[in-house]
Amino acid sequence: MSESNEIDNLLHESRRFPPSDEFRAQAVAKADLYTTADADPQAFWAEKARDLHWHTPFTQTLDWSNPPFATWFDDGELNVAYNCLDRHVLAGNGDRVAFHWEGEPGDSKTFTYAELTAEVKKAANLLTALGIRQGDRVAIYLPLIPEAVIAMLAVARLGAIHTVIFGGFSAESIRDRVNDAEASLVITADGGYRKGRAFPLKPTVDKALAPDEAGQATTVKKVLVVKRTGDETSVAGWQEGRDLWWHDEIAQVDSEHVAKPFPAENPLFILYTSGTTGKPKGILHTSGGYLTQVAFTHKNVFDLKPETDVYWSTADVGWITGHSYVVYGPLANGATEVIYEGTPDTPHPGRWWEIIQKYKVSILYAAPTAIRTFMKLGRQIPQQFDLSSLRLLGSVGEPINPEAWVWYRDVIGAGKTPIVDTWWQTETGAMMISALPGITTLKPGSAQIPIPGIAIDVVDERLHSTGPDQGGLLVVTQPWPSMLRGIWGDPERYVDTYWSKFGPTTYFAGDGARRDKDGDIWLLGRVDDVMNVSGHRLSTAEIESSLVSHPMVAEAAVVGASDETTGQAVVAFVITKASHADDAAKDDAAAVLRAHVAQQIGAIARPRQVFIVNELPKTRSGKIMRRLLKDLAEGREIGDTTTLADTSVMTAITDTMR
Ligand code: PRX
Repeated sequence: MSESNEIDNLLHESRRFPPSDEFRAQAVAKADLYTTADADPQAFWAEKARDLHWHTPFTQTLDWSNPPFATWFDDGELNVAYNCLDRHVLAGNGDRVAFHWEGEPGDSKTFTYAELTAEVKKAANLLTALGIRQGDRVAIYLPLIPEAVIAMLAVARLGAIHTVIFGGFSAESIRDRVNDAEASLVITADGGYRKGRAFPLKPTVDKALAPDEAGQATTVKKVLVVKRTGDETSVAGWQEGRDLWWHDEIAQVDSEHVAKPFPAENPLFILYTSGTTGKPKGILHTSGGYLTQVAFTHKNVFDLKPETDVYWSTADVGWITGHSYVVYGPLANGATEVIYEGTPDTPHPGRWWEIIQKYKVSILYAAPTAIRTFMKLGRQIPQQFDLSSLRLLGSVGEPINPEAWVWYRDVIGAGKTPIVDTWWQTETGAMMISALPGITTLKPGSAQIPIPGIAIDVVDERLHSTGPDQGGLLVVTQPWPSMLRGIWGDPERYVDTYWSKFGPTTYFAGDGARRDKDGDIWLLGRVDDVMNVSGHRLSTAEIESSLVSHPMVAEAAVVGASDETTGQAVVAFVITKASHADDAAKDDAAAVLRAHVAQQIGAIARPRQVFIVNELPKTRSGKIMRRLLKDLAEGREIGDTTTLADTSVMTAITDTMR
């Protein structure tokens, strides 16, 4: 589907779902949120920040005197972990369940707030014993097990900085991130469970930390290893002096730990995400503003009643959703959550629905890709389970098509639950656009309106607001509390990437959007060379550079082609070197290259298709015209080729693809 087709289809989406009186009457969010926030956004956020516990109250709200470098609540001091743990115990809620954890093989564990606090205190003492201090970087490469949450909170409790690396990433990806962040400690596990099998993690860390070809070691001094699978082959590379078992070490530390205050702008975490170049960006988030916005949005967008709701976000902690809406938002609000280690279809395709039935989940937050996969499998699977506990559904990570939205509401939400489609990014830290349940009349396919206190516009290239139903670029026109504070170690790239297109006070999100006549926002996908595969960001440049690192490849161009299930899929066009003509001619050449990318970056980056071609379409100045390749990959008629240096190239490529 071309972009203009997409706009047309969405323009014709006219279904409306106003909130029921029953929902409205009990809703957390009240309409006056918008009026209060509009009247004075800074005062609004300051009031929300005061819902947190401050060891030292702040007197300043925002400093935007040196844009795009912002500070929020700068002279205040707090401890993020204390806000997520101790304060709930002190308020008498120690017996409330913080989370029910469900392992893929069927093992499970429940932690109350008192128990989770106790575990985090021990882990903080352990990290202190290993030399971790304020500002130190700790890499976390774990499956979705309780220790992942405990480790993140323990790092936060010490004012240190975590960088969580998704368990599907390769040794090269870990190495790049560890080097860029100059991490001194890695926390990993022997392995985890996925799709019914134990998979090893520790050997990948061993490989990542081995000296490189130049004999250069990383900055990592210690590796803490959680025993999850018990697979001894995973720990065959054990290095005495460097590697330590989590359970051995934690048994030896004190159980008391007093949380110290840290400045509001103390860094909390770095999370690497793909951009338009080959090198992932270390997105930096800090403490007070971040926690304020994740807690506020989690409470109001999900209509959270911490005493009665059971909330489940299916995201992994390796992504921003796992940081903001598995760890920090829900725990800051004293919510009861479900955390599930494995895949939705193991050991049977109804696993998610079985978990909802088991824990009586009332709020579910998931990605459109998963919804579309379930849609394909058919409603008879969820219908075997009791989903009557669900009262609110959320969507995140990519545009949700109206058809999937309506299916989600009808089949999973019994035709009555509100759906909140939440637009935000790793960089924004927290939700920026969403309906508020109980207030907003819902429109399937639209993320709808800015969160109270957030200023969004849709503009043309000259920063003029576009008219109703016209496509444009999404921008944020005022600073917000959970905004990224920079790219780790690269302030210039921070300015260039987000704040140069429209000047230093307008944040360019990289997404296309349109606003309808009511002012509701409809997201239209990325406008840059970033792809969105199953709600995960991938960079065309990163995959291209991985492809050209293979000896067979001379040149590569990658595009994100639309895909019914995953939103977009990676499609690569590759020119091979004459010297490797024999290898390239082999039937499995494409498979070799697909595997190469998976091995270098991680399985999520594996191209759906690799086409070996003789030429790539280029402009006279030598720029690859990805737009044309995208047309081909999506099976569409090829667009305007007049700027091509050689117009016969497209015919030649089409011939090789047959
Ligand atoms: O293109 C937008 C898309 O995901 C991008 C951000 O990706 P990431 O940083 O990995 O964060 C994903 C989880 C927040 C955005 O630039 N995106 C995210 N949510 C939506 C979305 N596109 C449309 N609708 C959404 N609700």
